[in-house]
Amino acid sequence: MGGGIAQVLVKSGYSALLHDVAEKFLAKAADRIGKGLGRDVEKGRMTAEEREQALGRLKTTTDLVAVAKADFIIEAVIEHFEAKAGVFKELESHARPEVIFASNTSSISISKLAAETKRPAQFLGLHFFNPVPVMKLVEVVPGLETTPEAAETAVALASSLGKTPIRVNDYPGFVSNRVLMPMINEAVFCVMEGVADTSAVDGVMKLGMNHPMGPLELADLIGLDVCLDIMRVLYEGFHDSKYRPCPLLEKMVAAGRLGRKTGRGFYEYAEKKA
Ligand code: CAA
Repeated sequence: MGGGIAQVLVKSGYSALLHDVAEKFLAKAADRIGKGLGRDVEKGRMTAEEREQALGRLKTTTDLVAVAKADFIIEAVIEHFEAKAGVFKELESHARPEVIFASNTSSISISKLAAETKRPAQFLGLHFFNPVPVMKLVEVVPGLETTPEAAETAVALASSLGKTPIRVNDYPGFVSNRVLMPMINEAVFCVMEGVADTSAVDGVMKLGMNHPMGPLELADLIGLDVCLDIMRVLYEGFHDSKYRPCPLLEKMVAAGRLGRKTGRGFYEYAEKKA
């Protein structure tokens, strides 16, 4: 998602410094961004020259300290509290105090992450949706200590990317994943209990509810590990058994069937085609 966020930033005229832990991930992201903007040229949404200029605004680095020079920092690392907190702690001592830290977390407490930094007033959730270049929504999630000014800045940033920001409060899963993930989890229960097979469950939701993708197809797109992490955050956050992760979801993640990114989830993917 970091690559997708960088793509919309440079397309909208911002300079973006994309960080990852290894060059190979950065090269892959830069390639996808180049192709994504190439698609925009093909479709007449930008000129070839504008694409070149946008790509010129994209820089990559494996040096996290270099990122601390940015005016606004958006974190999109794996959905684990310790990993996210570790990134923010490292950035904290290098970034100017007025710089806003935003997390693209899907469900983790913004207030808790903010408390790991010395700038909880300048910390918030900025939650994009997959595929980032296509999806309109950005959930803007102020934590308990976030200033109204910081939230306004984030809303303005999201709007300037052509997205529609919607403010929601900081509770597990926010609104998006509190509603979406139990649906996906229930779809996995349907498969596990033999109510219907994968394509039948997805077919019901696509044809009966007009969803663009079935819940299991969507789980493969999001990543089954991410879905499981979010269910765990909901379960631990609300202490309510209705959020218990489906054992089949746990088993698939344990087996390494994570969806599109590993070539196999509820569906099999050859060259990215289901
Ligand atoms: N990356 C970039 N662009 C993509 C893409 C991808 N992975 N997949 C599709 N697109 C683009 C296509 O290139 C196409 O763009 P053009 O205008 O250039 O043609 C456009 O999206 C439409 O694609 P298609 O015509 O191939 O297919 P579609 O009409 O079925 O749309 C879809 C594809 C947009 C993914 C649609 O199926 C959809 O909306 N699915 C649901 C996605 C969704 O629910 N996302 C939220 C997930 S939850 C999340 O991300 C947050 C979280 O916290 C877990």
